[in-house]
Amino acid sequence: MRFVTSGLDGSLHKHWWPSSWRMKVAAQQPEYEDANALNAVLARLRQMAPFVRSSECIQLKYLLAHVAQGRGFLLHGGDCVERFSDIHPPELNRKVRVLAQMGLLIQHATQQPVVHLARMAGQFAMPRSQGMEVLNGVQLPVYRGDLVNDVVATPQARRSDPDRLLRAYLCSATVMNHVRSIQGKSLASLGPSAEDWRLDVLGELTHQDTDYRQLIQQLSDIQQMTPPGAHEPLELFMSHEGLHLAYEESLTGAGADGLPYNLSTHYLWLGEWTRQLDGAHIEYFRGIHNPIGVKIGPDCEPDELEELVWMLNPTNEPGRLTLITRFGKDRIASSLPPLIQAVRQMGAEVIWSCDPMHGNGLVSSQGIKTCRFESILSEVRSAFEIHDAEGSHLGGLHLECTGSEVTECLGGSAGITEEELTTQYTTACDPRLNASQALELVFLVSDCLRRQVFRKYGLRGC
Ligand code: PEP
Ligand code: CO
Repeated sequence: MRFVTSGLDGSLHKHWWPSSWRMKVAAQQPEYEDANALNAVLARLRQMAPFVRSSECIQLKYLLAHVAQGRGFLLHGGDCVERFSDIHPPELNRKVRVLAQMGLLIQHATQQPVVHLARMAGQFAMPRSQGMEVLNGVQLPVYRGDLVNDVVATPQARRSDPDRLLRAYLCSATVMNHVRSIQGKSLASLGPSAEDWRLDVLGELTHQDTDYRQLIQQLSDIQQMTPPGAHEPLELFMSHEGLHLAYEESLTGAGADGLPYNLSTHYLWLGEWTRQLDGAHIEYFRGIHNPIGVKIGPDCEPDELEELVWMLNPTNEPGRLTLITRFGKDRIASSLPPLIQAVRQMGAEVIWSCDPMHGNGLVSSQGIKTCRFESILSEVRSAFEIHDAEGSHLGGLHLECTGSEVTECLGGSAGITEEELTTQYTTACDPRLNASQALELVFLVSDCLRRQVFRKYGLRGC
C-alpha cells in the first residue's frame, strides 16, 4: 500500500497551485477567439465572492465518510446540464422535491441517513465527443453548455463567449441562494401546497402488492402531517462536473483552514472523458480539498484505477473520493468485479456509486437521444448484486433526473414510447428520468437497499 499518512506534510500538494493544470494537456476546453476578453472575465471572477464555506465541504466529507463505511447512502442527481433559462423558483423547487422524495424512499428502506447531492448551481458545461457537427448542411462548433455557447444552431450562437462565464457565476449564485432559502425547511413546506408534495405519481403506477400501497400511504402521511419546519430539515449539497478548468481555477481559494478549495460548490466530479492520468483535470483535482468523484467507464483497467485513486486521494482520507461507475447494463458484470478487487487490495476507502444513465444511451428510430428505464434499472440491480458477491457495498446512486414530467427516457410504468418522446423533451444534452420514473426506480431497488443493510448488520430476512 502506497498511501501516505498525512496530507498536511507538504507531500500531497507539493508543486501544486490553482493554475498548475496549465502545464498539462487539458481535454474538452473551448477555444476563445479573444484571449484578452477571456482573461478580463477570469480576473473579474477571481474577485467574486465564494458560494460555499470550506467548513461545509468538510461537513460533506464527514457525512460521506459514513457512507463509505456503509452507514448511509449518497443520492446524487439532477440535470445532465442546467440552462440559464431554467432558473425559476417553481422549477428549482421541483428539482429539489424529487431529490428529497427519492431520499425519503431510500431512508425508509435503509433506516440510514441519506446524503443529498444535487447536480445544481454550476452544472452548466458538458463534454462532447466531437468538436464540430453538421446541422442543416452547415458545419458548426458543438454546443458545450450555457457556460460556453448557445444551443441555437448559428455560427454566431455557437461561438465560445467569455461573458457566459460571468452569467454562469450569477446564475449559480441565484440557484445557490434559492436552495439556501429552502434549506432546513420541511418537505411539506416546500411545494406550492402540501397536496403537491404527495407521492401521487407512485400511486398511479400499476404495482399491486400491498407493501407497496402501504408504503405510499405512509410516505404521503409523513409529508402531509408534518407541520412546516417541524420535520427533519432538508440538507442539500451542490455539485457539478469540474470541466472548464480556467473557470474552476478562478473560483478556487483558501478555506478557513488555509487549504485550497473550489469555493463555487461543495463537490466536484471528474468526467469519464477528462480523467487522463497525465492530464490537466487530474492535476487540478488532486490539489483541491473538496470531496470529489470520478466517473469510471467500462474501458478502465484495474491498474489505471489504482493510479487514479492514489493520485486523487494519496492519504486515503475517508469521504474524499467517490468512484462513479457507468458501464452500461451489458458490461457491468465483466467490468466491475476486477475494479472492486483492485481497490480492496490497495486498502482504499472509497464510496462506490452507480451511474446507470451514461452507459445505456441509445438513439430512437426518429434520431432522438434516449435511454430505456428497464436498462437503467437493470444496471442498478446488477451493481447491488456484484458488490454483494464481491463482499463490497454500493454506497450511492448517480442519476440524471428532473422534477417535472418530461418524456426523455423510454418505459417505466408510465410506458413512455418512442412516439411520445417528443411530447416534452427539453433536455439540452442527455435524457433525464422524469419525477415518476425517478421515484419508481428508487422504489424498485428498495429491496436491494434493504438487503444490503441487513447483510451489513448480519440480520436475516428483509
Ligand atoms: C455527465 O455526467 O453528464 C457525463 C457527461 O458523464 P460521463 O463523464 O460519465 O460521460
Ligand atoms: Co449527462
